[in-house]
Amino acid sequence: MSHDPTGELTCHPGTTEAFTLRLNHAAGRHLPWTAAQDAILSDVGLSTARSTITGWPGYAPTPLVALEGMADGLGVAQVWYKDEALRFGLGSFKALGGAYAVARLLARQLSERLGREVTMEDVTQRAFPEEAARITVCCATDGNHGRSVAWGAQTFGCACVIFIHAHVSEGRKFAIEAYGAEVRRCSGNYDDSVREAQDAATREGWFVVSDTSYEGYTEIPKDVMQGYEVMACEAFDALPEPPTHIFLQTGVGGMAAAVTALAVRRWGMARPEIVLCDPDQAACWLESFRAGAPAAVGGDLDTLMAGLACGEVSALSWQILRDHGDAVMTVTDASAVAFMRLLARPDGGDVPLVAGESAVAGLAGLAAAMRVPEARKILGLTDASRVLVFGTEGDTDPEVYEALVGADAAAVRSGEA
Ligand SMILES: Cc1ncc(COP(=O)(O)O)c(C=O)c1O
Repeated sequence: MSHDPTGELTCHPGTTEAFTLRLNHAAGRHLPWTAAQDAILSDVGLSTARSTITGWPGYAPTPLVALEGMADGLGVAQVWYKDEALRFGLGSFKALGGAYAVARLLARQLSERLGREVTMEDVTQRAFPEEAARITVCCATDGNHGRSVAWGAQTFGCACVIFIHAHVSEGRKFAIEAYGAEVRRCSGNYDDSVREAQDAATREGWFVVSDTSYEGYTEIPKDVMQGYEVMACEAFDALPEPPTHIFLQTGVGGMAAAVTALAVRRWGMARPEIVLCDPDQAACWLESFRAGAPAAVGGDLDTLMAGLACGEVSALSWQILRDHGDAVMTVTDASAVAFMRLLARPDGGDVPLVAGESAVAGLAGLAAAMRVPEARKILGLTDASRVLVFGTEGDTDPEVYEALVGADAAAVRSGEA
């Protein structure tokens, strides 16, 4: 274990349980929810997202599971796990974001083109099928976001082209094609596919629906995050009492920012401690908290946690998590696999759960912190802590899941794994 002069804690380097923990000294529960933050995510925005999304065919809130055996094993009072594995049949919370942003985009575009107000209900009911079919949405993805955009396009009747990079598995490609999208594979990495999507959109007059934001591109990612807040709202409403801590895995930080935004608006100064969890091979939140400003990490971002393999934070997420993301820690791929397996074959009478590679970093972070007294102290974790985590995906790539867990989702769910 080592401390650097800024108070960063590094433990067990080179092992499964290795982590670096850093407090974000700029954050605090005393900080207000600002007008600038409310312009990103708000109660009004959430209310529109909720009424829209709960009206979609097949909507059902996902379960909030109390993992008592897990809590006992880790030494906390409660672990609540919001299980997104069956969200709209897409297998991840991302179903809420990309598809919602597609619907909002269609409402705006159709209103403009038809010269009258087209409502979210009109979009859901496909009131203007010919006009909608003339609109094409596109995005780059390494899986879950593209699936959501493709599903949204199919559901609301517009065209869709999804760009994937060289390392996205064939399984993920087929899953996107199953929603009727054209999928184009690009050479190079994720950033190359982002560029290709943007170039094609400019050339063809398509609309990029991205889950990350940057200067000059915020409207659509805002809608994506507002969709994610519906997941947070379901979880908070289902909790028997407020959590003391929320551990959130981070890619570009859209999901973490959405959950945090609702926590701040709902509980104010009494909000839980917010701990971000980055893959150690793609630790852009750690790097940004170190720098006190968005900072990119380079390299090949080679993590098994495909959904979290991001080198740069989203500009909008930064505006929220800079003030309310209390700490960040890194987790290893090996610890993610260990928790996928533990959830599949739980101890202590918990129900078996199907959790994909990017679903468990929050839980793995909690477990790593609980094993080190100094980390517990830094984060205020005790045997009375009530911790909320989000299991953000199921077996979104069934082959990868089975290879890592040694059983498929059906066997896990039936308790035969
Ligand atoms: C399953 C899963 N969990 C978490 C995340 C992280 O979300 P964000 O990039 O908004 O931080 C992703 C992103 O793709 C994901 O697919």
